[in-house]
Amino acid sequence: MARNKAAYDHWLFVLCVLVFAMSSCYATDADTLIKFKNSLSDTSALDNWNASTNPCNASQSNWAGVRCRDGSVFGLALMNMSLAGLIDIDTLSELPALRTISFINNSFGGPLPSVKKLGSLLSLYFSENHFSGDIPDDAFGGMGDSLKKVYLAKNAFTGKIPSSLVALPKLSELDLGDNQFSGRIPNFQQQGWKVMNLANNRLEGRIPSSLRNLNATEFTGNKGLCGPPLGKCKSSRKRVILIIAIIVVSVASLLCALWTFILIRGSRARRASLAQSAQEEKAQKKTTAEKTRGVLEVQLPDPEEDNEYKREEKGGELCFVRKDRERFEVQELLRAPAEVLGSGSFGSSYKAGLLSGSMVVKRFRDMNKVGKDDFYDHMTRLGRLSHPNLLPLVAFYYMKEEKLLVHDFVLNGSLASHLHGKRAPGQPGLDWPTRLMIIKGVARGIGYLYKEFPGLVVPHGHLKSSNVLLDHNLNPLLAEYALIPVINKDHAHKLMAAYKSPEFSQTGRTSKKTDVWSLGILIFEMLTGKFPANYLQQGRRANADLASWVNSVVREEWTGEVFDKDMKGTKNGEGEMLKLLRIGMCCCESSVEGRWDWREAVDKINELKERDSEEEDYSSYASDGDVYSSRAVTDDDFSFSVAA
Ligand SMILES: *[C@@H]1O[C@H](CO)[C@@H](O)[C@H](O)[C@H]1NC(C)=O
Ligand SMILES: *[C@@H]1O[C@H](CO)[C@@H](O)[C@H](O)[C@H]1NC(C)=O
Ligand SMILES: *[C@@H]1O[C@H](CO)[C@@H](O)[C@H](O)[C@H]1NC(C)=O
Ligand SMILES: *[C@@H]1O[C@H](CO)[C@@H](O)[C@H](O)[C@H]1NC(C)=O
Ligand SMILES: *[C@@H]1O[C@H](CO)[C@@H](O)[C@H](O)[C@H]1NC(C)=O
Repeated sequence: MARNKAAYDHWLFVLCVLVFAMSSCYATDADTLIKFKNSLSDTSALDNWNASTNPCNASQSNWAGVRCRDGSVFGLALMNMSLAGLIDIDTLSELPALRTISFINNSFGGPLPSVKKLGSLLSLYFSENHFSGDIPDDAFGGMGDSLKKVYLAKNAFTGKIPSSLVALPKLSELDLGDNQFSGRIPNFQQQGWKVMNLANNRLEGRIPSSLRNLNATEFTGNKGLCGPPLGKCKSSRKRVILIIAIIVVSVASLLCALWTFILIRGSRARRASLAQSAQEEKAQKKTTAEKTRGVLEVQLPDPEEDNEYKREEKGGELCFVRKDRERFEVQELLRAPAEVLGSGSFGSSYKAGLLSGSMVVKRFRDMNKVGKDDFYDHMTRLGRLSHPNLLPLVAFYYMKEEKLLVHDFVLNGSLASHLHGKRAPGQPGLDWPTRLMIIKGVARGIGYLYKEFPGLVVPHGHLKSSNVLLDHNLNPLLAEYALIPVINKDHAHKLMAAYKSPEFSQTGRTSKKTDVWSLGILIFEMLTGKFPANYLQQGRRANADLASWVNSVVREEWTGEVFDKDMKGTKNGEGEMLKLLRIGMCCCESSVEGRWDWREAVDKINELKERDSEEEDYSSYASDGDVYSSRAVTDDDFSFSVAA
């Protein structure tokens, strides 16, 4: 009896062992892979993973993406499969022979899976997914015996490069490109890199000397990196000096004068009608009702007469200066629903909704520099201008005390409102390609004006961001150009951009390069997103405000943060952006002799590209820095201290 009991116990024990052994033996590679597949979503690419077949027959694979060796699963090569869901590392760790995993170009997201549980992995490829977030510093801890290849490129990883990568002695291929890794590059000691790519991240600081012999292309697109193989590092003190240099050169010139502050708010609340203001005008004109009527009854020039106006008539004619425009009567303009667009340096402007389209009417009060005939001549000349980057003058209305200039309504408002106006949440700022396109258009428009008005010292005279209008394609149109010949001198000196130039404040004279200076200021404004006007509003407080502007720029590091944060699309364009910054400086050179002339400025701007070309990367410009600082040292017109 006792013996039977013992035998029974023995068999029970054996049975238990068997059951246990079978259960683990039967967790075949196939079962494990099916279990792994179940944690994924969108697995249509894995349809032939079917437990009724074996994944592996010797080194031949029967399942999609499964790599076999000696009848066991050696690797998973699940590229281009639109997979998503969870990468179940715990399940994969049950594949004893697994050495390589690739999930390149799928739709996995979230943090990096805890790959260190796969302690004998040789290579892992996680590139081209949507992984994000910081990677723990010890993410690769304990993988040092085997791991050779780590590919995490083209994801959205952030934070520091995990230092556990440094402790992988066999690592020879590392691709972290096109992520958002930040901070310094850890001090890699591995030799003989086959692949080492850190391009297009947010890394900064000096490149470790152990990596100095690598190709510079592996580090490009990181604004903050310096040292070989990129350009040499500047001490941050030097960098501050560099910033000050730039700002001094640009703002220095500004200090000399006032910059008009244009309200961009375009307050739509006030709905003053043009008709109303014209009525007031009429009342002031102490004419009889009948006479007033006569004044407003416009003698439209006969189209056949080729713009010969009946000059002997008293004022009050709406004169069309272009033949290619549908004409309308002044009454139509007065009766149309009007909207105040804002008040500029010279007076307010209104939008009038005519049947044939919206027109903008600008009122100028201080435009009596020349007599009526000369005024007509000049306006006719403006009407003959035609350039894709010039806002065409359509008509004008002459009264003794006031002139109205009529032009098309431009859909997208002014560049100033795009750079500095309040945007609706989610509405992006102008990106770099757009800003480049705009500045190129502005340059072409300026070049055209220089060619058309060889006799004018300052062909534009009032170039600033609020006078650059953007059409429906964001194509820039220059406005308020070539008005210096007709604007009252005092008024012009007080308000117009040209008279804020360093040469005017120093010598009381403008020059053929004065518009180039305004162009330079515009370039700075576009690149930094900072409005130069506030700082120079009425002269007195200029110093304090200027210092605060400089401060606000200098606080950020030179590398990158000078540029407007709202400016997107700057990837691979940093070199070109720096070129433009440098062009801005050459345009803003305070000595007229040293300043570029318009041809050089226009040519250089139009040579710019959206993206850096292959052979020219950021580094070649970064090392140009000394050019800037030497300039600053010689320019001691302005001494203000900056508490950086
Ligand atoms: C697996 O394959 C067998 C035979 O080839 C088939 O009958 C079965 O439906 C398949 N199972 C799945 C889940 O596809
Ligand atoms: C494995 O492959 C060999 C050669 O292709 C074939 O002859 C054999 O039948 C296969 N075995 C299984 C179980 O599929
Ligand atoms: C994945 O797609 C890319 C581009 O279509 C192709 O070059 C590559 O060979 C594909 N890889 C695999 C394993 O199919
Ligand atoms: C990524 O995979 C998709 C299919 O899922 C394929 O169409 C595409 O070409 C692949 N892209 C790259 C860059 O390999
Ligand atoms: C750097 O890489 C680029 C592109 O791969 C190649 O054309 C160039 O020759 C490399 N330069 C060096 C110094 O290896």
